Amino acid sequence: MGSDRKTRQFEKRMAQVLDIRPTRVAEVFQGARPTSLRVNRLLDDQRYAETVEQLRQRAPSVTEVDWCEHGWFWPDQDGFDPVMELAHAGRVYAQNAASLIPPVALDPQPGDAVLDVAAAPGGKAFHLAARTGNQGRLWLNDSAPPRARKLAELAELYGVRYAELTTHNAQYIDKELPPESFDRVLLDVQCSGEGRVNLRRPDALRHWSEERLNKYKFLQTKMLSCGYKLLRPGGTMVYSTCTLSPEENEFPVNKVLGRYPDLTVEPLGFQEPEFLPGLTSWMGERYDRRLAHTTRVMPSELFEGFYVARLVKAG
Ligand SMILES: C[S@@+](CC[C@H](N)C(=O)[O-])C[C@H]1O[C@@H](n2cnc3c(N)ncnc32)[C@H](O)[C@@H]1O
Repeated sequence: MGSDRKTRQFEKRMAQVLDIRPTRVAEVFQGARPTSLRVNRLLDDQRYAETVEQLRQRAPSVTEVDWCEHGWFWPDQDGFDPVMELAHAGRVYAQNAASLIPPVALDPQPGDAVLDVAAAPGGKAFHLAARTGNQGRLWLNDSAPPRARKLAELAELYGVRYAELTTHNAQYIDKELPPESFDRVLLDVQCSGEGRVNLRRPDALRHWSEERLNKYKFLQTKMLSCGYKLLRPGGTMVYSTCTLSPEENEFPVNKVLGRYPDLTVEPLGFQEPEFLPGLTSWMGERYDRRLAHTTRVMPSELFEGFYVARLVKAG
């Protein structure tokens, strides 16, 4: 398909998904960049305090994220140069602010068995470890061996302790790990990445197509089903993507809600102006009304386009 035609198809689809005029789509899709820093709470108290101090000195415009402990918004367009040295030393982790949401939503506690199904390069896994002070049993998985190796290197840099690191395919992972053995499961899955699209770049939609996202949706549904099977009764599962099409977001969540009656949706419990309710219908198909308690993140200066669902299995 020609790139102009593809761009028009993308604009039409995103205008419908976000309920905005097609002429606004190019304005909204300007790519994602790191807009937040998380100070690594696995540092000892003294190094932690020093790092916060250095952060305030080097970047006076940072502001604390009120729903994410140790998280700071970094609205500076000039990039991370002033604090790169802190990142290379494992003291801070720079990422788009949307990536702070899933670990906060999962809320792992010390002693919990936690599975991160698609963990590389590790931003969210390290955040999970920091939230439990390395006191959880963290199982990392990513099906791409080179990415899993990078994950192991970075885990060492950030002082993250984990129990296992495996490279299973998430869509079959229930055959590999014991059923109902995790208190928390994070599924931050592979997706078509619409939330990061920068329409100013000529090759922005090179990997995007409606066929592709229709293929992903079945894979993602299988991954969610596996996550459900590995979750103990009373456990929490968070499903997240950096994409916006309902096929990859509400569709798989709707499927597992229909399949497993003991699964419920829990709202995030924190809010930003960019956070919108999940859709309850798309292209004439009605979804479970509880999908409105999931969260779509509208692309903005601070957030990439994102989706998060917090699901709880009855105890
Ligand atoms: C969105 S990224 C995860 C980002 C990661 N959670 C983080 O915060 O740094 C998706 C990951 O899924 C992995 N992946 C792709 N297909 C997979 C599959 N079938 N099973 C497990 N992992 C998969 C990719 O290698 C990639 O690292």
